[in-house]
Amino acid sequence: MNQVVWHPHPVTRVMREGQQGYKGICVWFTGLSGSGKSTIAGLLEEELFKKKFRTYLLDGDNIRHGLNKDLSFTEDDRTENIRRISEVAKLFVDAGIVVITSFISPFIKDREEAKNIVGKDSFLEIYVDCDIDTCRERDPKGLYKKAELGEIKNFTGIDSPYEKPVNPDLILINNNESNLNENVRNVIDLIQTKISL
Ligand code: ADX
Repeated sequence: MNQVVWHPHPVTRVMREGQQGYKGICVWFTGLSGSGKSTIAGLLEEELFKKKFRTYLLDGDNIRHGLNKDLSFTEDDRTENIRRISEVAKLFVDAGIVVITSFISPFIKDREEAKNIVGKDSFLEIYVDCDIDTCRERDPKGLYKKAELGEIKNFTGIDSPYEKPVNPDLILINNNESNLNENVRNVIDLIQTKISL
């Protein structure tokens, strides 16, 4: 049996949020590799930073260099990847930060669990919608090519599924004709409706 008892501390989330004047939130981007999640996430963080919000960006490729470097791309490992990130995001939200996550997070059940872990009132699911042919053409890391040649297994969109969000808070169309700045502005507008005290 678990003998660990939660220890309440004197400084709370509400106090932190009261001091800074806005709430913490998790802005969760999901979409295919090459859909533009990380580009949008980076621009979003830059704009929020300029507006003096406290931000942090958790990015799939980077987190897999450290915290999650022991995980592969099997379904179980992706689930564990998203579970750990959700717990980290929860801590950031508790700290009062606007935490932005950029993970393929291909499975609906894992994203639902992420929302449960972080808390549904502090979670925005944003689908970066880009068709797979455009992602393939972009292929910024040459990974689609490797997957098609069979050099990488379990690649999302090739031999591993991507489950589109059913009811996301926002859908950003991010094909080559899309306006990145407009997409970022729409996300900021949505965030601002959620974080005001
Ligand atoms: S997730 O599915 O577990 O959410 P995550 O976002 O952390 O994935 O990592 C995705 C990144 O890892 C991709 O952008 C890509 O650069 C790289 N990658 C390497 N192998 C794979 C693979 N088999 N499937 C998807 N992405 C892969």
